[in-house]
Amino acid sequence: MELKAAIEARTSVRNFTETPIPVSDLKEMVRLAACAPSVNNYQPWKFVAILNNELMEDMADVIVRKISQIPSNESKVAQNVKSQVEWYATFFKNAPAVIAVCMELYETILEKGVDLSHDEINKMRNYPDIQSAGAAIQNLLLASVDMGYGACWMSAPMISKSELEVMIGIENPMQLIAFVAVGEPAHPLKPKEKKAVDEVFSVIG
Ligand SMILES: Cc1cc2nc3c(=O)[nH]c(=O)nc-3n(C[C@H](O)[C@H](O)[C@H](O)COP(=O)(O)O)c2cc1C
Repeated sequence: MELKAAIEARTSVRNFTETPIPVSDLKEMVRLAACAPSVNNYQPWKFVAILNNELMEDMADVIVRKISQIPSNESKVAQNVKSQVEWYATFFKNAPAVIAVCMELYETILEKGVDLSHDEINKMRNYPDIQSAGAAIQNLLLASVDMGYGACWMSAPMISKSELEVMIGIENPMQLIAFVAVGEPAHPLKPKEKKAVDEVFSVIG
């Protein structure tokens, strides 16, 4: 598939068939994800493909429990919102695979020479480590489309980030950034309408 066609065909896929994905295909998606740019080319990302249904169910349960603990009123609206959030945070359990995207915090040269913490410098640079992870995730999504799969970038499960890190075995200095659910789409891809380019583009000549 041509790059432009993959970009235009990509859409978030949340319903999958039960067809398993060969590990070799997941590995190829990750190889392409890791071609992404990263701050100072530091690329200390790791991708863990989770295929184990029991683990996926356990992770979803932990997330549901966390969502239920968010303070809210007893209104029907609040309950509806919570159950929607619950689904958008846990549908990965029905995917043939979920890829946990992990990243080591970026240590700048600056950190060695100035009296500022990692967090302070990272904030000053507008979170280049998270920006780098985003570039890799977008590559992953496009690679999945190119290979005939569908995927969805998921940050909602990160409500249980620390619990999930323990369950997946992600240890300091690595940290969990996002999930990407992947599989064969249950329905044909139907990309969402996007803003016209004239609405989002301007030029300073
Ligand atoms: C940083 C980020 C986090 C996201 N987290 C979730 C999520 O937790 N659950 C979900 O169902 N979709 C999630 N999405 C997918 C968006 O909802 C989706 O990209 C958006 O609605 C546009 O639709 P499209 O991807 O089909 O173009 C996320 C997307 C991004 C970029």
